[in-house]
Amino acid sequence: MQEAYKHVAFIMDGNGRWATKRGLARLEGHRQGAKTVESILKVAPSLGLETVTFYAFSSENWKRPEEEVNGLMDLLRFYFTSQLNKLKDNNIRLVVMGDKSRQGRLSDDVIEMIERVEAETEHCTGLCVNFCINYGGRDEIVRAAQHFADDVERGLRFVGDLDERLFSTYLDSGLQKDPDLIIRTGGDQRISNFLLWQCSYSEFRFIETSWPDFDGEQLKALLLGNQTVDRRFGAV
Ligand code: IPE
Ligand code: IPE
Ligand code: MG
Repeated sequence: MQEAYKHVAFIMDGNGRWATKRGLARLEGHRQGAKTVESILKVAPSLGLETVTFYAFSSENWKRPEEEVNGLMDLLRFYFTSQLNKLKDNNIRLVVMGDKSRQGRLSDDVIEMIERVEAETEHCTGLCVNFCINYGGRDEIVRAAQHFADDVERGLRFVGDLDERLFSTYLDSGLQKDPDLIIRTGGDQRISNFLLWQCSYSEFRFIETSWPDFDGEQLKALLLGNQTVDRRFGAV
């Protein structure tokens, strides 16, 4: 019997094309996409999920036109500010993965907002929601390696201590369980620098539906249809 999925991660793709197809500004697709996130959060606990991870803004998405980047940052500001109480009411803990350092590219007010939402939901014991913002899988691994090297230099660690488990603690995901399933909407079949370390034994589903057209009900159907997958983790 297949063990139930506890952690599903989403590459929320196809927002821009969804909007363009409807003669709307790309940002309208991102706005609509935020509703999909809400719909998924509503059903996730009833599907037995303990963690959901959303890829919201990659370390490469800074290459987009300034107007779109600013619009996305405004949307994040609006989303976190307006949802904070709802997250707390629903016992949801929010964790932001990505480069949140003051030397990084996120503006100070966005970093402060992230720190506030993380701190105010830290005690929540229900669903854990990871938002990946200014996140790249390679960047995460490099930052972890730098942090470990710093600790060696400061005499806090020995090089010989390093193993997979210890290295994981330096990653943004810490000791969280790896995603069982990664779903990418929008029709493309690639990883786009998402959870490179954590996806080693994840299942993948690439679906044609654009992110704004996806919802909790479709997630439910997809999980039910996936129950017979045999995950061997290298064994027989
Ligand atoms: C994904 O949708 C959201 C972000 C990357 C912020 P896109 O904006 O990439 O939408 P498409 O892929 O261009 O349709
Ligand atoms: C991946 O989508 C990043 C997010 C969903 C945040 P992209 O649209 O940036 O990926 P590529 O450029 O198509 O690979
Ligand atoms: Mg895209």
